[in-house]
Amino acid sequence: MEPSDIPAARHRMDVLVEELNRHNRLYHALDQPEISDAEYDALLRELQALEAQLADEIRPNSPTHRVGAPAAEGFETLPHLSPMLSLDNAMDADEMRAFDDRMKRMLAEAGAGDSGSLEYAAEPKLDGAGVELVYEEGRFARGLTRGDGQTGEDVTANLRHVLSIPLALDIEKGRPAPSLLSVRGEVVLPLPAFERLNSARREVEEEPFANPRNAAAGSLRMIHDIDLKRLRSLEFRAYAVAEGRPEDITTQMDVLAMLDGWDFVVTPESRLCRGADEAIAFHDEMRAARGELPIEIDGTVFKVNDIALQEQLGTLSRSPRWAIAFKFPPEQATTRIDSIEAQVGRTGALTPVAKLEPVQVGGVTVSNASLHNQDEIDRKDVRSGDRVVVQRAGDVIPQVVRVLLGNRGEDCPPPYTLPIHCPVCGAEAVRLAGEVVTRCPNLDCPAQLKNNLRHLAARSALDVDGLGEKLIDQLVTTGLVGQLSDLFTLTADQLEALERMGAKSAVNLVSSLEEARKTTLPRFLTALGIRHVGETLAELLASHFGDLEPILAASAEELALAPGVGPTIAESVARFFEDPRNRAEVDRLRELGIQWSPVERRDDGGAGTLTGKKFVLTGSLSISRAEAKKRIEAAGGKLVSSVSKKTDYVLAGENAGSKRDKALSLGVEILDEEAFEALLQGAP
Ligand code: IVH
Repeated sequence: MEPSDIPAARHRMDVLVEELNRHNRLYHALDQPEISDAEYDALLRELQALEAQLADEIRPNSPTHRVGAPAAEGFETLPHLSPMLSLDNAMDADEMRAFDDRMKRMLAEAGAGDSGSLEYAAEPKLDGAGVELVYEEGRFARGLTRGDGQTGEDVTANLRHVLSIPLALDIEKGRPAPSLLSVRGEVVLPLPAFERLNSARREVEEEPFANPRNAAAGSLRMIHDIDLKRLRSLEFRAYAVAEGRPEDITTQMDVLAMLDGWDFVVTPESRLCRGADEAIAFHDEMRAARGELPIEIDGTVFKVNDIALQEQLGTLSRSPRWAIAFKFPPEQATTRIDSIEAQVGRTGALTPVAKLEPVQVGGVTVSNASLHNQDEIDRKDVRSGDRVVVQRAGDVIPQVVRVLLGNRGEDCPPPYTLPIHCPVCGAEAVRLAGEVVTRCPNLDCPAQLKNNLRHLAARSALDVDGLGEKLIDQLVTTGLVGQLSDLFTLTADQLEALERMGAKSAVNLVSSLEEARKTTLPRFLTALGIRHVGETLAELLASHFGDLEPILAASAEELALAPGVGPTIAESVARFFEDPRNRAEVDRLRELGIQWSPVERRDDGGAGTLTGKKFVLTGSLSISRAEAKKRIEAAGGKLVSSVSKKTDYVLAGENAGSKRDKALSLGVEILDEEAFEALLQGAP
């Protein structure tokens, strides 16, 4: 560092120490973090880098030299048997390799290394609250939170209700009990219990917990009105012994096996890895499995397996040298909401969208996030100008996870409500009783029209080549197209008069429209954009009724007789064709030359095979995910985790969020449970 840079570096160190200590308190003592873990880590690293250069100016209260936070009021504090340390982090594979190289180099320097690869105990990094459990003569004596690492809060009374904490060591199955034993591990709240807890809190208008980790930490620290059910839903997972390890237990893997013998729960995913390559492979595997696990993990932990080598490597003030936490890339970031806008979808649904100050999340710049619907906005109390945590998981549309309320100023606007009029056509928006969605009811609304045109032009519908987003905008804005059928009246001259439209493109579009006129009944039905009627349902209807006339003539009850068509879909189809405007539109489309040959009727309910079809599940379903998976696979389909263009169906349950949005934006068929049942029934 240049001498001239030193004053600025000193100042930055002070700022970072103060900021990090504040965030430490918010996280550990108040369970109310204001920034994501990744952002905390980034600040901590910046401070560590400065301290490395100005080593004799390290602030005495620097968070790089201690962990956690002072005890909350109301709990007695007790010293740990030995300090509870934190872990150093690796953020990517290069840093993981650097760790492995460092271990090998240090061991070689100490004369302890051989040339082969080093063995690591690989474990998931559990995202919960670290605790120490002390056993005296094999009986659970007390339990402490991590606290500041030296002393922790005595939460023994609460821990006694955590079912996976043995009150006495199982010495029939395990080894004899040492007179004094310190077991370290993580208290976690499994995701289903977390969801239940938060919905119960919402019901009584209590602030829901931001994540399972805060919920676990908060539950451990309950003082008044102790909720036993909540404590019983916590789980303790053991990963270390700090005191009382018998001498013949010489590796971390042995420690885990010993803990398992005493009846502790150790993570079943833990395994031995040789060298950095195997470690990185384990990390990738855990990252892929992350979404399927019942508890939250935020990375993997690698510990030099041989305890004698651990001792040679030693410990720094904050963390042991012989272990590393390899973090998953951050999929959350904080940013500010510039404004909230309502967008109108194909079915007229008004979706609130947060326009964000652009921010990098998981390697992608994010500037919009879905707020889903009014209920979601009310629940999270999201307002324009708020600082928020946004999240992406895989490739889905980003969501606002929570508001960082601590950042709200005096000038905060009132709560956001969706407009009472459609922002596009001005029609009065309606929200039907029992529905979460607010809709624009105007079928001629330009927003709906644009979306319907996009839908009609899609490959699974009339497949109109060259009818893209921009052109649709122009056609609707200039008034050339006021309803779907107008599309088939367009002439090359009219099209050529549009801005940026060449003669050749105009002629090409007219000929694509000409080609699109020769279609099939299922495609035509799909193109109409009837709610719930995608490609599959259209095929079911077509093969049952054979032609359009019998469908137009059928009542809801008659429609429901078609294999695979349930009452909701039947109702939706009947309503659609009852509307004289839709009837007129169908007639006009046919007059303008849309035609198909009759479909071979098939009453046996065959819907074609589901072999190879890719399904994604989202939202809460009335059947378990395992059950849904079983049934999909039995029909020859396959369950995949994220929505892409290659996905065939998204089965969306209640409160489906971003995966459903993503499916909508990609034109992937969305099934509700009823349509799903129908599809399975139709499959051979
Ligand atoms: S070992 C001396 N193993 O992560 C090593 N910690 O960021 C101490 N954690 O304080 C910890 N999963 O609360 C260890 N498999 C695991 C872990 C784990 C989660 C927590 C623990 C620790 C924090 C460090």
